[in-house]
Amino acid sequence: MRKHIVAGNWKMNTTVPEGIELAKAVAAKSVETPESVGLIVAPPFTHLASVAEALKGSKVALSAQNCADHTKGAYTGEVAVDMLASAGCTYTILGHSERRQYYGETDQTLVEKVKLALAANLGVIFCVGENLEQREAGKHFEVVTDQIKNVLFQFSAEDMKNVVIAYEPVWAIGTGKTASAEQAQEIHACIRKVVADQFGAQVAEDMTILYGGSCKPSNAKELFACPDIDGGLIGGAALKADDFIAIAMSF
Ligand code: PGA
Repeated sequence: MRKHIVAGNWKMNTTVPEGIELAKAVAAKSVETPESVGLIVAPPFTHLASVAEALKGSKVALSAQNCADHTKGAYTGEVAVDMLASAGCTYTILGHSERRQYYGETDQTLVEKVKLALAANLGVIFCVGENLEQREAGKHFEVVTDQIKNVLFQFSAEDMKNVVIAYEPVWAIGTGKTASAEQAQEIHACIRKVVADQFGAQVAEDMTILYGGSCKPSNAKELFACPDIDGGLIGGAALKADDFIAIAMSF
């Protein structure tokens, strides 16, 4: 059975006390959400251990937003997968378009990161998505397919059980412009086919594929009603507990 997931990517927002408060509010309200919907929050690194504490006893899982491509040692400023796991994370987001765009994250680096995350028993929320220029040139299917092939095809069908794919068109992130349900569905269906062709029909059927990009309470229902959209990766709207929970109630 495919899992429904709503994950909040807090990006570089909130101080530690603000983050704890937000996590507590999400944890408290999470009891209202359907049991079948998994909830995840991804605060900044500095918040992880205290947010883990705030989430204790709730259904809300903890994710990092990134991890290092090495296990330990002289890599100033980096955070390794074992550190994340020991802080209470059970997931990490990888390959977010902001990491690819502003920090030069390449497919090669992502292969290393996915490998390390899976080896540390972290679930991976692997982000893909085209930019506006690529969409306008009609290249979105090709771009997203390549992002998946270049990284996830290095892994096994067994590994894929711990991978969630998040489709996030760059032109929809933080812009208020959401992909229409039709636009999102057609690319989600394409992603599922790419996964099926490589890893088999069952892996594809079981894979959770999230939509991200200006997803909010007012559009979540329509998006989540699509057969291949299994939840959302939420940025801006995840910074308000009420909005985040309202999105999780949209199934
Ligand atoms: P947004 O961000 O919901 O603010 O558009 C989504 C994301 O980048 O994960």
